[in-house]
Amino acid sequence: MGVMPLLDGMWDQQHRCPGGIIGWWVGEQMVRQHRPETIWTTDLLDIQPADAVLEVGFGAGQGIKLATARASEGCVMGIDLSEVMVKAASRRNAVAVKAGRIALSQGNITALPFEDQRFDKIMSIHTVYFWSEISLALHELYRVLKSGGRVAITLCTGKMNDRGEVEVWTPSQLLLEEQLMPGMRQEGFRAVRLEQGPNSRQYTSVAVIGEK
Ligand SMILES: C[S@@+](CC[C@H](N)C(=O)[O-])C[C@H]1O[C@@H](n2cnc3c(N)ncnc32)[C@H](O)[C@@H]1O
Repeated sequence: MGVMPLLDGMWDQQHRCPGGIIGWWVGEQMVRQHRPETIWTTDLLDIQPADAVLEVGFGAGQGIKLATARASEGCVMGIDLSEVMVKAASRRNAVAVKAGRIALSQGNITALPFEDQRFDKIMSIHTVYFWSEISLALHELYRVLKSGGRVAITLCTGKMNDRGEVEVWTPSQLLLEEQLMPGMRQEGFRAVRLEQGPNSRQYTSVAVIGEK
């Protein structure tokens, strides 16, 4: 194998599950790079002061911080596959973690360690590409969401070129159209819809919203 495929593979792996010092650095880069769509996704959830909020795949914890500011009388919980990200996000949100307003732990979306109907709002940003079993993941999100609750799943589906045209990323677009949206409807989410997000470093993002 040449050097470039090796580096690409390493880079992919560091986004799938950031590890070690490089993983920590990647997490901090993502805080900066994903800021527009993270703010936008948090807004889409319309978080109320008393809400219980879950973020799956919180990375270095920017979304957790934004959600905590909005759920000022509620609580925010998070699950991430990466131990390094649990540490980074806990450090970024140290005061609220210490106060018991945030609880972050390592885990997989396919087995969420929460009781049924625990959360009013759930978000997940740039993680769906890595879910090994989409239908099981959607089943878990539906299970832990309260009736009347809302989920927002944000992903990138393309990039704007120099001529201002969007070059669609076919695998991402297929994931969206053939697995994510139909899978959500099949699971029982209602009012499943697509929102167009901000361009972030020329990347175009969308969110799939579903209600329970
Ligand atoms: C590309 S990063 C995005 C992080 C953050 N949401 C952001 O936008 O900056 C993907 C994150 O999802 C986590 N992740 C990947 N697969 C996961 C899974 N199956 N369950 C929970 N977390 C997962 C990774 O550990 C990583 O922190």
